[in-house]
Amino acid sequence: MKIIRSATHFGSSKKASLEICRQVLIKKDSVLGFATGSSPMEIYKYLIQYYKEGLVTFKQVTAFNLDEYVGIEKTHPNSYAYFMKDNLFSHIDIDINKCNIENGLADDLEQECENYEKAIDSAGGIDLQILGIGTNGHIGFNEPSDKISAKTHIVKLTQSTIDSNSKYFSDMQMPTKAITMGIASIMKAKKIILIASGKEKAQAIHESLYGEITPKMPASILRLHPDVSVYVDDEAGKFI
Ligand code: GLP
Repeated sequence: MKIIRSATHFGSSKKASLEICRQVLIKKDSVLGFATGSSPMEIYKYLIQYYKEGLVTFKQVTAFNLDEYVGIEKTHPNSYAYFMKDNLFSHIDIDINKCNIENGLADDLEQECENYEKAIDSAGGIDLQILGIGTNGHIGFNEPSDKISAKTHIVKLTQSTIDSNSKYFSDMQMPTKAITMGIASIMKAKKIILIASGKEKAQAIHESLYGEITPKMPASILRLHPDVSVYVDDEAGKFI
């Protein structure tokens, strides 16, 4: 695991975005795993900038998103589908038909999870997965738990996640369930980038990097992966 510390979140985001560009330059038809939340937003701004400057093209890229809320329309501004379109996909030359995200409105959610997992495998697996981290150490929506949920699955969100994320929901109650790629779906990615900023993440970063490797701190499991880059700013890295 590589830890890359920058004074600011902008510095971290710039370095992380360059790592993503490198991946796409080396393999034009890369399969990228995207994350939502505030953590990767600056990375996406840099990717848009580099695309506009002609440094990189996403024409042949396939995308898979980590997670989506259950019971929310793709067109709703709080859906992760909308987030990705708004913050990245509609600003670059990626083929929107190759941008995959779990359908939180599927009639059969279990089947949706299975289909999603199969779709990742048939695309050849994820080359590079981008991750944020929750204040409780969650990755995707893999919440702290006694056991690992390996594959894409439905999850009941913890109170701490609801408390952290409900600020984004003004016109509706925040969903209490989500579909998320599992820990093994994430660990199967060939390369992983985790980005964290701000003092709220400092404890989770410290425990994930130096504490016990346990599903009670989901991000700690990343230490078992051979190619992970963790980008932290000074605040998120203050205990490491
Ligand atoms: C959500 C997402 C995660 C994300 C986390 C942190 O719960 N499902 O993928 O990493 O929030 O969000 P933020 O980056 O806004 O702190």
